[in-house]
Amino acid sequence: MYKKSQQALLNWYEKYGRHDLPWRNTDNLYHVYLSEIMLQQTQVSRVKEEYYPKFLEKYPTLKDLANSSLDEVLASWSGLGYYRRAENLHKSANEAKDKLPTNVQDLMKLSGVGAYTASAVCSFGLNQEIPVVDTNISRVLKRFFALVNPKEKEIWKIAEEFLNIKDPRNHNLGLMDLGSLICLPKNPKCPSCPLEKKCQGKEEPELYTKVKKKEYISMDLFYGVLIENGKIALTPSSGNMYKNMLELPSVKPIEEDFLGDFKHSYTKYKLTVNLYKIESFKEEIVWADLNKIHTFPISSLTKKAITKL
Ligand code: ADE
Repeated sequence: MYKKSQQALLNWYEKYGRHDLPWRNTDNLYHVYLSEIMLQQTQVSRVKEEYYPKFLEKYPTLKDLANSSLDEVLASWSGLGYYRRAENLHKSANEAKDKLPTNVQDLMKLSGVGAYTASAVCSFGLNQEIPVVDTNISRVLKRFFALVNPKEKEIWKIAEEFLNIKDPRNHNLGLMDLGSLICLPKNPKCPSCPLEKKCQGKEEPELYTKVKKKEYISMDLFYGVLIENGKIALTPSSGNMYKNMLELPSVKPIEEDFLGDFKHSYTKYKLTVNLYKIESFKEEIVWADLNKIHTFPISSLTKKAITKL
């Protein structure tokens, strides 16, 4: 039924798709799985250039990952943010026991694995005959089939109907790239789109996307700095966002002890981080050797604070 559009999509993907991405050039399921976890909420370029190769060098197999400590994995994740991903990744490596499941149902039993990740792994890693829906693919499908505010379930259903069972992997990757290169949320490049002919949403493409304005929350943070013998005093984070990470202790600001401040953005927060000299603090202390700071599970914010000092 959709033969022409499906073929046009495959031709376009072959010519213009992002074939250089390393996780698209491997049949190692663990590598594909890792890439999908990293790519949630992180830009492709940062994952490709930095975190993906570095992480695989340190943990070449699922077993290596399972046998490492959570602290070590969090230290390797340092700077990527959303540290719950690293915690779940480590947990799932232990749950999987040497080998990842090769079907959506069992993958979804692993910690942190939802419908998207499970189908992405089975489609991109195993070329299974299943649809994949992420935000990019969803936008393409909503426009192509003119679906205004459809339920998540409807999009998956239509993705399944539109799936090219002759080449499901490249079909899904083609849709993904079309969403990120052509069928953009704002000002889509319809004249360059291989699906334009049959696209039911091309007249009013913005009807099918809610372009949410990003809202920021400004906040001041106050941290204490205590350094002795080349070691800095850190404490386990009490917040949920940085669970299992180490950070500087929070303090009540005392003007005479002010050391300096800096700006830091994290997700929706625009933070001003204020640093104060302190002599001691109540919480549990972990002394972190400043020469080996990269081996400790700290966030970009803490790293930045330490660099500023
Ligand atoms: N290729 C496979 N999965 C991807 C993803 N989540 N983002 C970008 N490229 C990908």
